[in-house]
Amino acid sequence: MDLIARSITHSYGGMVVLDDVSLTVRSGEIVAILGPSGCGKSTFLRILGGLEKPRGGRVFTQGEPPAKTLNPLTYVFQDFALIPWMSVEQNVMLPLEHHPMADAERRARVASALQRVNLTEFAAVYPRQLSGGMKQRASIARALAVEPAILLMDEPLSALDAQTRDLLMDDLIRLWNETRFTAVYVTHNLAEAVRLGHRVVVLSRRPGRIRDIVEIDLPHDQRAESSPDVIRAREILWSLIREEAITADREISDAG
Ligand SMILES: Nc1ncnc2c1ncn2[C@@H]1O[C@H](COP(=O)(O)OP(=O)(O)O)[C@@H](O)[C@H]1O
Ligand SMILES: [Mg+2]
Repeated sequence: MDLIARSITHSYGGMVVLDDVSLTVRSGEIVAILGPSGCGKSTFLRILGGLEKPRGGRVFTQGEPPAKTLNPLTYVFQDFALIPWMSVEQNVMLPLEHHPMADAERRARVASALQRVNLTEFAAVYPRQLSGGMKQRASIARALAVEPAILLMDEPLSALDAQTRDLLMDDLIRLWNETRFTAVYVTHNLAEAVRLGHRVVVLSRRPGRIRDIVEIDLPHDQRAESSPDVIRAREILWSLIREEAITADREISDAG
């Protein structure tokens, strides 16, 4: 299933947040959305997921979602959003509760989701007993339980320390190699975008417009930091982001 956003414009009060943003997310790809804080990334993701209605433009899907999908567009949040008094297993089961299905299928979906993020042994554990990385893996399992067509991830690693981020990035890459999930991955971290994305959409500072879309045409296992292609991609992205930062700074100085 593809997800298509056409000419999305959005504002809060008089403040324009997104200006004419068009994007097609193709089935099986990870699109990273990179942009400075406050440029409208989360707003765009909410609009993609149908949580917010844009002032202008439209979002639609094309093609069929996977057969077992219960919820085609599913979120993974930065703060995990786990229910503290429920075990990992109960948390992962939560989005299945209002879907009619046999108990056996419910259990099979939960088991499969936990297995995909390597949390099978932690099914009975409560969130407070988990490390930050494991909490985020539990929340990814909860998203996977509905077999989404597209995962919408809003800075899912931001609340984690550098080492845990690194490990979770490896987990996401392994998961993608196993399941070829489709995702929109919002981040303000250039390195993450280059490591994970098949394409990186660079948004300008507010109002968010697409500055450029950079294709990272390299298998994940060939993205060592020392690889010339990776270095080139980082340089291109850095120059795009740098220009945005400099322009913003100039405007601030001019105003002063
Ligand atoms: N519900 C809202 N009401 C009013 N302003 C909002 C709302 N959500 C976001 N904003 C504002 O819109 C801008 C873009 O926000 P956001 O999409 O969260 O940016 P990002 O995720 O890129 O940091 C920010 O200036 C933010 O303060
Ligand atoms: Mg945000």
